[in-house]
Amino acid sequence: MNAPDQATEFWDELYERRAAGSPRVNPRLAEIAGPLTPGDALDLGCGAGGDALWLAVHGWTVTAVDISGAAVRSLQRRAESLGAPITALRVDLAGDFPDGTFDLVSAQYLHTPFALDRAHVLRTAAKAVAPGGRLTVVDHGSTAPWSWNQDPDTTYPTPWEVAADLALDPAEWSIDRADTPRRQATGPAGRTATVVDHVLVLRRSGDGR
Ligand SMILES: C[S@@+](CC[C@H](N)C(=O)[O-])C[C@H]1O[C@@H](n2cnc3c(N)ncnc32)[C@H](O)[C@@H]1O
Repeated sequence: MNAPDQATEFWDELYERRAAGSPRVNPRLAEIAGPLTPGDALDLGCGAGGDALWLAVHGWTVTAVDISGAAVRSLQRRAESLGAPITALRVDLAGDFPDGTFDLVSAQYLHTPFALDRAHVLRTAAKAVAPGGRLTVVDHGSTAPWSWNQDPDTTYPTPWEVAADLALDPAEWSIDRADTPRRQATGPAGRTATVVDHVLVLRRSGDGR
């Protein structure tokens, strides 16, 4: 089995195991997108689709992509039953990227134990942001007790490191937000813990939003 197949199998197995729960929006995404004027949004590594569903309910037209066919199919079913404007696509971002330009491109916890050149993905994501639009990258800054990743040697990039890696043209891009807030999180079995988020919001200059 090659690496892309292993990655697909790993994430499919996780989403099949968690299929019973209702997907919830990430609090940082709601915080960031809440004040924005809705437009076209792209959710990278959408998982079960809590963010995509929240965005659609709040007026956005959403394209949501993930390597897991199980996650994408489940999101598409939920979107159809709600009549929500979501196009859910199975895309392996290691070698592919959806077409289009978007007012908001969101990568929430786009972490994986498999090879993925995230900086390349996020630079491609920046090119897909429309003038006046935003690219938001929210990473873990700590390991929740229920995370699939319990490797004690894991280090998470800070928002400033992510911004430096992207190396976007400062004449065209500004940082709206870069911080490392804490929050009380609830895991799949109702367990709670304090976790740290690494939050980066970049704005492309231009008309609009
Ligand atoms: C930690 S989960 C976060 C999911 C979701 N954004 C959330 O916040 O709940 C990482 C997501 O990235 C997806 N992913 C991992 N590698 C990917 C790849 N190469 N292409 C597309 N999606 C990928 C996984 O399937 C998983 O849904």
